[in-house]
Amino acid sequence: MTPPESPRFYGRRHGRRLRAGRQALVQTVLPRLRVSLPAEPAAVDPAALFPVWVHDIWLEIGFGAGEHLAGMAERHPDIGFIGCEPYMNGVAGLLARLDRNTCRNVRVFDDDARQLLPYLPDRCLGRVFLLFPDPWPKVRHHRRRFISAATLDLLARLMRPNAELRFATDDGACLTWTLEHVMRHPAFAWTPAGRDDWRTRADDAVPTRYEEKALARGARCTYLRIIRCADAVQDQPSLSLPSSSSRDIRSHEQQRLDREPDVRRTGHR
Ligand SMILES: C[S@@+](CC[C@H](N)C(=O)[O-])C[C@H]1O[C@@H](n2cnc3c(N)ncnc32)[C@H](O)[C@@H]1O
Repeated sequence: MTPPESPRFYGRRHGRRLRAGRQALVQTVLPRLRVSLPAEPAAVDPAALFPVWVHDIWLEIGFGAGEHLAGMAERHPDIGFIGCEPYMNGVAGLLARLDRNTCRNVRVFDDDARQLLPYLPDRCLGRVFLLFPDPWPKVRHHRRRFISAATLDLLARLMRPNAELRFATDDGACLTWTLEHVMRHPAFAWTPAGRDDWRTRADDAVPTRYEEKALARGARCTYLRIIRCADAVQDQPSLSLPSSSSRDIRSHEQQRLDREPDVRRTGHR
């Protein structure tokens, strides 16, 4: 099978020269945490990326300097996090935030998330974060926005029914664009829980750098929890089976247990 064509990335990959400590982290820690693309699409086994048992996989697209990713990984040690970020200074920022514990449940794809998505298996994700994506305000640049019919198609394949896509922005035009695309897509729904649901960050969420800057200058931030709907036929719930989510992840875990019986079965992580 030919690998999917690489999409063009318009953002920055490098900023100021990294300080020696951060450069060292990029050279020594990143290779251990990096998600590499295999030869075949849909061939990355997400649960097998982690040295510890994870009961779900959450993906953050464009983690910036990694405040949210590192914070969430610490709050949810039993979740495997994959963060995508092509901006190397941001990646170095994340690495500086990770400690011995979070290093175990965070993996990094240091490139455009759209390159990774085709390599992940169906319904492997329980949550996706797209927090303060580049708004690309000029009309001629709107097509560069991360949300598009094509990326929603990819996410629809990867997210299990009822999985959540958390989106946040302080940009009204980017919000409208996202809502229009989401409402048009049959696999996604946004149904706010209450009148001001979109004005508050999720309870377990960690503020991002971009968000804090926006709030400090008095901008209004909007938070959407977009749900991956069940497909009419394909996703009919089966009453006798556990959800496909746990089934998929557990089968990965079982395969790993089969490979490494002694350590895992005695409960050491
Ligand atoms: C405005 S910044 C927000 C960063 C962070 N989420 C925050 O809230 O502080 C957008 C980030 O998305 C990253 N980004 C843009 N397009 C991306 C893509 N296709 N895949 C992964 N990251 C992307 C950029 O490099 C940038 O770091």
